[in-house]
Amino acid sequence: MTTNWTPRYATRIAGMVPSDIRELAKAMRQPDVISFGGGIPEPTLFPHDVVAESFQRVLSDPQTARIALQYSESGGYMPLREYLAGYMGSRGVPCAPENILITSGSQQGLDFVGRLFLSPGDTVLVEMPTYIGALRAFDACEAKYDGLPSADYLRPAKAKFGYLMPDFQNPRGTCMTLAEREDMLDRAAALDLPLLEDSAYESLRYEGMALPPLIALEAKRAGGIDKGRVLYTGTFSKTIVPSLRVGWLVAPVDVIAKLILIKQAADLHTSTLNQMVMMDLAQRMLNEEHLTRVRTLYKRRRDVTLAALEKHMPKGVTWTRPEGGLYIWVTLPEGVDGTTFAARALKENRVASVSGKSCFAVKTVPNTIRLSFSLIPEDKADEGIRRLADMLKKI
Ligand SMILES: Cc1ncc(COP(=O)(O)O)c(C=O)c1O
Repeated sequence: MTTNWTPRYATRIAGMVPSDIRELAKAMRQPDVISFGGGIPEPTLFPHDVVAESFQRVLSDPQTARIALQYSESGGYMPLREYLAGYMGSRGVPCAPENILITSGSQQGLDFVGRLFLSPGDTVLVEMPTYIGALRAFDACEAKYDGLPSADYLRPAKAKFGYLMPDFQNPRGTCMTLAEREDMLDRAAALDLPLLEDSAYESLRYEGMALPPLIALEAKRAGGIDKGRVLYTGTFSKTIVPSLRVGWLVAPVDVIAKLILIKQAADLHTSTLNQMVMMDLAQRMLNEEHLTRVRTLYKRRRDVTLAALEKHMPKGVTWTRPEGGLYIWVTLPEGVDGTTFAARALKENRVASVSGKSCFAVKTVPNTIRLSFSLIPEDKADEGIRRLADMLKKI
């Protein structure tokens, strides 16, 4: 007799659904598909030769190799925590290494914050739309959702925390102004609401002035991050490489102490070897020269995609014009369903995009799609957008 697994799963599993994007990924890799799909980094930007050198540096010296290959502290490799405390300081966030937890990608930071604060049925306030991966992490804690407070949404449900991406949010590509950041902090203070700031795209700014992260503004108001209400996740995935899975979480020391217990239970610590290699890479690669190379390529891809939208899209279609990040958010004419449209575009016209619906936890706007320009060859963007526009003209 075969075992019936379904009734044995924990209640939280019922809320866990596969991400549309992962499901689409296979189709997107087919060579004839023009892909505005998954928001993954352009692999030719990976400094593979420097990565190889960094592994060599760490492993060729027996002293450092022994440290790299051993178990290590759950909070993270101390020199990396120190390095990141300095990096956060340069972003206007005065913090100590004890305010930092090294995570296995910033995705793990989102998961851990969910685990720390959410009992089944608790509410998280999110942007509308928001990052699918965060919803999946909070779903695993059996979360409910409501919208973050804003000028047009004043009275959200009582919540454990609010989750937001002030810089070039996924999926809209938009960036909060300084006034909007201050306003969000005012509203969070009025609601006594902790905020989780996801800064995944912060370094990918192509124009305009960099703005201080929420956690920096809050530290100024509160007199340090230990007294503030903002937690922050950072990552090397978009600036160096995603595969080493090294990210970080910044929080008051009391919160970090609890998160370290969760880290111990989850995986003891992030790979020591990867943390040491990432530290070496960050010191050598997180500089203007490398970041300019990365930003220049994505900016060009953004520009050709925006120009194609301008040229081909019929009246009634609108889109965001992001100053950074990897995404453009397209609002289709009223009544056009983004999921059906994206599926047809892939099947019939070999153009991949992501339906906007899966990015909403509340107040779904069905006539939306997300375009990622990170992987689009410059000579294919025009043709891809033309095909989408032709479909819309026929609807
Ligand atoms: C907004 C946002 N946050 C977090 C992540 C997770 O990135 P990582 O776990 O590689 O740091 C992503 C990945 O695409 C993202 O788009």
